[in-house]
This record gives sequence, C-alpha cells and structure tokens, in this order.
Amino acid sequence: MSDRLKELAATKAASYVQDGMVVGLGTGSTADFAIRALGARAEEEGLEVQCVPTSDASARLGESLGLDIQSLEDQPVIDLTIDGADEVDPQMDLVKGLGGALLREKIVAAASTREVIIVDPSKVVDRLGTRSPLPVEVVPFAWSLAQMRLMELSRLADLRQGSTGETFVTDNGNFIIDCHFDEAGIVNAKELELAVNAIPGVVENGLFVELADIIIIGQDDNQVRVIER
Ligand code: 5RP
Repeated sequence: MSDRLKELAATKAASYVQDGMVVGLGTGSTADFAIRALGARAEEEGLEVQCVPTSDASARLGESLGLDIQSLEDQPVIDLTIDGADEVDPQMDLVKGLGGALLREKIVAAASTREVIIVDPSKVVDRLGTRSPLPVEVVPFAWSLAQMRLMELSRLADLRQGSTGETFVTDNGNFIIDCHFDEAGIVNAKELELAVNAIPGVVENGLFVELADIIIIGQDDNQVRVIER
C-alpha cells in the first residue's frame, strides 16, 4: 500500500502533539512517518517533547532526528502514543506485532492517555485474524509447549523466522509464534486474548482490545478519516 497514505495519516497524528508532551513512538513503516513528522515539527517549530520508543529501531530513528528519547522507567505516564497496526476492526480493536514489537507497544499503549493508531485502508477489516496472523511473544524456553497449546486455539501456529532463516528474536530476547485463523477469523478477541496469555511461557499477544482511542486512516482522495472512541 502506498507510502503516501501512511504519511497522510502520520502527519495528521503528529499534529495532535503539543509542546511539553510525553509521546510514545510506535514501530513499523507507518509509525516511522509519524516519528519523522515529529522530528520535522521539532526542527521547524521548536516543538519540545519527550519520547518513549516501543522498539530499539524507533529509538534509533528518533535519536537520529534529534528527538529526546527517554525510558518508560523515567516516563511511566505518556500523554499520547502514535502507532501503526496490522488490522483494525469496526470496534477499533487491533492486531499488532507483524513488526515484532507488540510487547513494548502494548505496555506503552497501556501507559498512554491517548493511543492514536495510523493506518492505510488495507488494514481495515470486518473481523480480526482475517488479514494478518496473530503474533504471540513467547520466552524461548517455552516455545514448543506454547506452539502446541496455540495450535488448539488457531488453525496454524508458526514459529517466526528472520530474513535469513534463523529464528526471529524480539528486542526483549523472546521468540514470536504467528497464529493463523480460518476465514471466519477471530470470533471473540477479548476471550482469545485472555486464553492466549494464560498459556505458560506466553509473554503477550498482539490483540489490542479497547486500547485505541483514535484511528486515523489515510485515504486515496488525499483526506484522512478520523474515528474516535
Ligand atoms: C509492529 C507493529 C506495527 O505497528 C504493525 O506491524 C504495522 O506496521 P507497518 O506500519 O509497517 O505496516 O505492530 O510490531
């Protein structure tokens, strides 16, 4: 999907940021546009914000743009976070984590007064689990047990591989198991979120239920669609 639509949504989201705010930086190609938009506002308008990144990659990008990067330890209350998503449903619930940052993304979302999600139209679905697998972060020691249990909750549970065929490792030193569902997708996201997190060795999963406050969709007509909870 075109970068232009991602950038449209990202620029709109960055316009919500005000001087002095603590801002959560999401992860992924769409969130990168928001980080760049914030960097541009800092340079052009002198906007001063403190930023809590959801991944090492977003921390590096923010730093390279001169943004003030802080830890969640130092800034446990975040005014506004801008992040991408892999799926958004009509209830504003999400699947996240194809980029592998779901654990920190979910923690930062929970610490945020407002969670702003920016997407292009390809991410909008009628039901979660129909476009994207559900990523589940597991501790390496437990991955094979977790995979077995996840197979009972999904059609297929695949240990994620990196680009060169090795097991993908998250910023937290964990593995990811991607759970695929049949055409009907995920029937009850809240129930599934709890069931997945009850498996020993599962650290977190990519279902974001009732966490998004604002969804911004970049559209083909150069407009953005803003949906508020
Ligand atoms: C990373 C994420 C990303 O927000 C999600 O994968 C969307 O990424 P992109 O904007 O590159 O499509 O959840 O863990």
